[in-house]
Amino acid sequence: MCNFTQVLNDEAATLLAGQAFSKDLPAGMTVFLHGDLGAGKTTFVRGVLQGMGYQGKVKSPTYTLVEPYQIANKTIYHFDLYRLIDDEEWEEAGFRDYFNTQSICMIEWPEKAQRLLPQADIDIFLSHQAQGRQLRYQANSLNAQQFLQQLNT
Ligand SMILES: Nc1ncnc2c1ncn2[C@@H]1O[C@H](COP(=O)(O)OP(=O)(O)O)[C@@H](O)[C@H]1O
Ligand SMILES: [Mg+2]
Repeated sequence: MCNFTQVLNDEAATLLAGQAFSKDLPAGMTVFLHGDLGAGKTTFVRGVLQGMGYQGKVKSPTYTLVEPYQIANKTIYHFDLYRLIDDEEWEEAGFRDYFNTQSICMIEWPEKAQRLLPQADIDIFLSHQAQGRQLRYQANSLNAQQFLQQLNT
């Protein structure tokens, strides 16, 4: 399966990576964003949303757990599950329904909801470097593999 890394020297590079990723990203994708606090997960999602043409503010959904975006004909759900309490909170919020063939779900801290989440099509790993960050993409489905191969050319 497709797997490659990029070096992101500064915040602008993370935004650019997100913008590139947003291009031709198919509906129905579930994307996990892994990385420590401050690794650049929210910044990457900001780039994705900007790349899709969104011009408003992108705030981290730390307390609301999810922020929906309707952009052109796309629905994007940006999750931050750091503060997810338990399975019950997940079920009651109806998050299960957010994952469908029409939507794109981008999830920070998927580790907090392991048993509840569907499998990720794409895993993104962000890590701190001496300066800047490293980003690694990993495809877990055929659809994702095709998409990432195109992104990598
Ligand atoms: N490639 C990068 N190099 C240096 N700083 C970055 C980079 N990407 C993002 N940042 C900065 O890191 C900080 C944390 O980013 P954020 O996206 O909020 O992280 P996370 O959501 O993973 O906690 C922000 O100040 C952001 O500007
Ligand atoms: Mg964040």
